[in-house]
Amino acid sequence: MNGEFVEIFEVGPRDGLQNEKRLIDAADKIALVDLLSTAGFHRIEVASFVSPKWVPQMATSADVLGGITRSKGISYAALTPNMRGFDGAVAAKADEVAIFGSASEGFSKANINASIEESLERFRPVAQAAIAAEIPVRGYISCVVNCPYDGATAPDAVAQVARELHAMGCYELSLGDTTGHAYPEEISAMLRAVRDAVPDAVLAGHYHDTSGRALDNIEASLNEGVRVFDAAIGGLGGCPYAPGAAGNVATEAVHERLTQLGYATGLNANVLNRAAALALSMREEG
Ligand code: HMG
Ligand code: MG
Repeated sequence: MNGEFVEIFEVGPRDGLQNEKRLIDAADKIALVDLLSTAGFHRIEVASFVSPKWVPQMATSADVLGGITRSKGISYAALTPNMRGFDGAVAAKADEVAIFGSASEGFSKANINASIEESLERFRPVAQAAIAAEIPVRGYISCVVNCPYDGATAPDAVAQVARELHAMGCYELSLGDTTGHAYPEEISAMLRAVRDAVPDAVLAGHYHDTSGRALDNIEASLNEGVRVFDAAIGGLGGCPYAPGAAGNVATEAVHERLTQLGYATGLNANVLNRAAALALSMREEG
């Protein structure tokens, strides 16, 4: 506290928009990213090089990365599930990439058509290629508390995947409450198990807000030493392969809560509010 920096990693242009049914023009996505680039973020996830059959909304990812006005000091990130995705991200000049796995088998199969073990084998060459190219690689772990297909997730299962992704060279691990139903005490128990497996400093919280507890889950995570949180402007989003899951916790709400708690985010609230209005208007136009 007392002005300690807590980073909000903006994921709205990817996690927020990927779930929108109406296909949004690249120009509109670019306008949103360009506005977000003036808010004070260090990292913004803007793209996803996945199969357009699986997630049609992300088919414009190369156009978005090619069209944005890049700000110095901001890393523009992209999801890359396999080598094909990695090559696409590199060609589009993503500043960093992310591999995304799951702590539950059911979600892994539904989301990326692979068992956890198979997915780790697919990620390994991506991580190696990223490291060789000096491109930072982040790791996501979904369903860290529960899974829409398998029910409750054991904290040890999360710790196991965290250990693997960290060993591959992921510089940060983003822990996803994909369904948005976790309780703070479940988040704390999960974090304690993961902290036994990897260093505290590599952890980030990625909480969807279906049950309205994401801000409380962030507070529980702050108490466990987490200092990076993913959020989506306007609270947009959900995951196409997590039925019923709502959007990420809203960036502007996380900024407000962190500020109330005495942390510094470095973000400009006026810009966040304008960007939230723009993001929500893109949804309402559908
Ligand atoms: P697959 O069917 O196992 O793979 O899909 P495949 O290699 O057999 O390829 C199938 C088709 O996809 C082929 O095309 C490939 O060419 C194509 P077809 O022959 O049918 O015309 N393909 C690709 N196209 C473009 N870019 C690529 C690519 N790779 C293959 N990189 C695959 C495996 C991973 C591709 C697929 O399952 C997929 O795209 N899944 C995406 C799922 C996704 O994006 N989900 C949302 C993001 S994750 C999330 O939101 C959670 C997170 O926010 C954290 C949290 O909240 O928990 C991160
Ligand atoms: Mg997510």
